[in-house]
Amino acid sequence: MSRIVLPQNPGPIGIFDSGYGGLTILKHIRAVMPEYDFMYLGDNARTPYGTRSFQVVYEFTLQCVTKLFGMGCPLVILACNTASAKALRTIQQIDLPRLDATRRVLGIIRPTVESIGELTKSRHVGLLATPGTVKSLSYPLEINKLYPDIKVTGESCPIWVPLVESGESQSEGADFFVRRHVESLLSKDSLIDTIILGCTHYPLLLDKIRKYVPDGIRIVSQGEYVSSSLKLYMERHPEMDARCTKGGSCRYYTTESVDTFLPNASIFLNSVVDADSISL
Ligand code: DGL
Repeated sequence: MSRIVLPQNPGPIGIFDSGYGGLTILKHIRAVMPEYDFMYLGDNARTPYGTRSFQVVYEFTLQCVTKLFGMGCPLVILACNTASAKALRTIQQIDLPRLDATRRVLGIIRPTVESIGELTKSRHVGLLATPGTVKSLSYPLEINKLYPDIKVTGESCPIWVPLVESGESQSEGADFFVRRHVESLLSKDSLIDTIILGCTHYPLLLDKIRKYVPDGIRIVSQGEYVSSSLKLYMERHPEMDARCTKGGSCRYYTTESVDTFLPNASIFLNSVVDADSISL
């Protein structure tokens, strides 16, 4: 494949998700790194990714990462577990050397996994995630590399992302599907004391998830772990830090129409933002 000429000036940090979910991560990152510039890209036109094949998720993710590189991002965070599970490794190992070996793409599974060892006492952990993330086995594999004594039980929740993307996360109907998957997960392992929300869309369902998770079981949402890990990454990589501009701005892009994106994005962010529609 031919080499794409990418801008070399310093630029914003790119945050990518298949849709709105990455906004929950962006919010946390901006809270701990307010001085940085960010560029958010949601592939809302092709969401959900969670029910798609490995190859399709990889191709879509690579297109979005290449787009963010082309728009000036030296560093892109895959704020999507499905993309982190299915595309990150290949992009890091095969595509980055070809596109520009000095840029970086980071995922969000590793920072979440690193936190788990200290959070579970029973060493039985539950995972609520998309079918793609659960099937990839990325969570159990990564957790067991660091903590071989932890048992991870996964539950695929194929309908949760569509519920959130269609603005139904607060509806009564959503309760039915939330309850069903929480109960199914807990029935598979009664010793679970920690549940990972392994999809960036799920914090939007948190109130409902809490309703069906018994007291005493900790629910881990990723934002705080991903944001502190990124801050640490910048401290450890001054060469990358120097390439990330610091003006406190954030620009939003969607592959859908802006009219569709903005009302839902405002719910995720609790504030009104501007966005542009782009094609890949
Ligand atoms: N938000 C993405 C994740 O964290 C998945 C959404 C989707 O299925 O597209 O897995």
